[in-house]
Amino acid sequence: MKQIKWGVLSTSNFGINHLIPAIRASKTGNVHAIASRDKNKADRVAKELNIPFSYGSYEELLADETIDAVYNPLPNHLHVPWTIKAMEAGKHVLCEKPIAMNSKEAELLLRKTRELPELKVMEAFMYRFHPQWAEVQSLLERQEIGTVQSFHSVFTYYNDDPENIRNWPKMGGGGLMDIGCYCISLSRFLFGSEPESVFGKLEIDPQFGVDRKASGILTFGEKTATFTCSTRTHDYQRAIIFGTDGLIEIERPFNPSGDEPAYIYLTKNGERKTIQIDSVDQYRLQVDAFTHSIINNTAVPTPVEDAVANMNVIDAVFKSDEKRSVIDL
Ligand SMILES: NC(=O)c1ccc[n+]([C@@H]2O[C@H](COP(=O)([O-])OP(=O)(O)OC[C@H]3O[C@@H](n4cnc5c(N)ncnc54)[C@H](OP(=O)(O)O)[C@@H]3O)[C@@H](O)[C@H]2O)c1
Repeated sequence: MKQIKWGVLSTSNFGINHLIPAIRASKTGNVHAIASRDKNKADRVAKELNIPFSYGSYEELLADETIDAVYNPLPNHLHVPWTIKAMEAGKHVLCEKPIAMNSKEAELLLRKTRELPELKVMEAFMYRFHPQWAEVQSLLERQEIGTVQSFHSVFTYYNDDPENIRNWPKMGGGGLMDIGCYCISLSRFLFGSEPESVFGKLEIDPQFGVDRKASGILTFGEKTATFTCSTRTHDYQRAIIFGTDGLIEIERPFNPSGDEPAYIYLTKNGERKTIQIDSVDQYRLQVDAFTHSIINNTAVPTPVEDAVANMNVIDAVFKSDEKRSVIDL
């Protein structure tokens, strides 16, 4: 089978701990090079992780003609600029979420993907590759909970580290960008459509100037989706779908452990049934799906159009909070 040679832009913690191992575990995985703004750091990480090549700048990595695909886990404000540069160097790109600083910037990337349709670009919403969602979709299709009425999601953690990119407004920090983007993405994914209106409320951290708590109400016709995300709250995540005849709870909707089963709870007729899904590395499944699209020249599962639509809703939450009113989309 054809192997895809990957280059990794930066020594990002997430890349080192999750995505590089996922590329290696994938069917076609081959991490060929890593780059850092600091050559010593690139060399050290390459040595530790046994990566054959290391570069002291992102430009040098992009100039390596043997690289087929680039993984971009840079801070959010560098997602679009470096994804476009990588495409101009002829590389496919798996780019971290959220894809851009706003929908306008995401549209620049969309334009580039239309100019270079032979290159695959995908936003790394890894949660979609976990088989628990196929199970949820199947429960919904079988109308196990009757007619869906509403969807609610929560994603929180505590991080007040002043050095962390999530606490820097200029880098696209804040909870809405970091984790609210998942709640919005999941609402759109489950309902299979775009919200018609959005109401958002943010709480801004006075020290850092980023949102530390964000809530939103999204309407999808008769259905509603609500979410709360926070970067100053106890670690938690949960998603609940309410129907006329029951409800479905997804215990870890966003990053279920790769080593333990995932659990879904179906409540109906006064009973709560547990559905266990075998453990799986959703990051590896994401890499497999992306490289499958490269090798077979097929559409990526999450196209950049989807990323633009997600940014559009994120923009609307910010705007709604600023205007203190509902935003019609
Ligand atoms: N999909 C997921 O499950 C998931 C989970 C966590 C994070 N993420 C995403 O991954 C991205 C990185 O997150 P992370 O936690 O890995 O962050 P991180 O450890 O801070 O890594 C970001 C890297 O970007 C590089 N960089 C370039 N310019 C920078 C600047 N001005 N300031 C700081 N760093 C700069 C640095 O690498 P060099 O010094 O080597 O150049 C740094 O190591 C974010 O977009 C985040 O949303 C996704």
